[in-house]
Amino acid sequence: MTDAMTTERTTPSRPRPTPAGSFRAHGARAGGVREDPGLDALLRSAAELLAAAGVPSPRADAELLAAHVLGASRGEVAAWAVAGRELTAVQAVDFRRLAISRSTRTPLQYLTGTAAFRSVDLQVGHGVFLPRPETELVAGRAIEALAEAVRARGAGAVIGVDLCTGSGAIAAAMAEEVPGVSLHAVEADPEAAWWAAANLGPRGVELHLDDAATALSALDGRVDVVVSNPPYVPDGRIPEQAEARRDPERALYGGGADGMRMPSVVAASAARLLRPGGVLVMEHDDTQSAAVARLLERDGLFDAVLARNDLNDRPRYTEAVRTARPVDGQVTGGVDGTMTP
Ligand SMILES: C[S@@+](CC[C@H](N)C(=O)[O-])C[C@H]1O[C@@H](n2cnc3c(N)ncnc32)[C@H](O)[C@@H]1O
Repeated sequence: MTDAMTTERTTPSRPRPTPAGSFRAHGARAGGVREDPGLDALLRSAAELLAAAGVPSPRADAELLAAHVLGASRGEVAAWAVAGRELTAVQAVDFRRLAISRSTRTPLQYLTGTAAFRSVDLQVGHGVFLPRPETELVAGRAIEALAEAVRARGAGAVIGVDLCTGSGAIAAAMAEEVPGVSLHAVEADPEAAWWAAANLGPRGVELHLDDAATALSALDGRVDVVVSNPPYVPDGRIPEQAEARRDPERALYGGGADGMRMPSVVAASAARLLRPGGVLVMEHDDTQSAAVARLLERDGLFDAVLARNDLNDRPRYTEAVRTARPVDGQVTGGVDGTMTP
């Protein structure tokens, strides 16, 4: 989720009407001339259609849709277009159908069924938040912290938790990039959890259909890294990009005029879950950086609170280290992972 994708409700940008009719069918006659069935011509026609619909990267999307239809890479599609390859009638119809759907601003990932995130290709579709490039940085910092814990204590002793996992993007990347650790992912929405199960089951991550506020209490005080990209969009904002409006509302809105309710829930859960010295990494809106720092520093449960910037140099996530101070009434974990009162 990104601040750049949101704007005030008073100034929404609307998708332009779909000029679906402007994409001529394979083999159709336009002005008495049979349309070129060549891949290059189809790509150009699709790119024009997508550009007219306001799709930000029309040619790239056309190539990715063709790659999906042909079961090829985007590079192969580009090379075949130059080489003059023609599509079969069925392939051309499939491609045209997808291009028209994309021109209605249906997210590209819904049409191809996959989303790339760091080292993993995720299965995605309707009902789940599509992972964003900036979250790759958040995952990267969590992966570093997990790898540090492995160096210190050995993979078998290390536990990582992804709260509000959505498609399971962050947890899946952690599993791929830090093998051998014990990983748990929490998601409250059944539809999103269905996708998470598809992505996390094969990677050995334990998925919990549960509320981040109360989940995983058996791990209280024992976790090395808690990472989260929670819902954090303030009430009253709507996504600027048409595609982002397809994300489930539950994935976007954090609660309250400042969107801070869910980030606060995640901070509280991280405080109970993390062992002393354990690391929290949490994504947030760039307007929330100071509020997140205040929240984490307030009760002495975290120190080394550090706001980190995204690739546009905006403070978009925060990391913090759990102190040894117990949460009121909590049983805390020992340094060897055992539970001590
Ligand atoms: C912004 S999405 C992030 C998904 C994923 N972590 C990513 O970065 O792509 C937030 C996710 O939190 C889930 N969620 C919302 N409230 C929750 C709660 N109380 N407990 C657990 N998950 C929750 C939403 O259903 C959604 O899948």
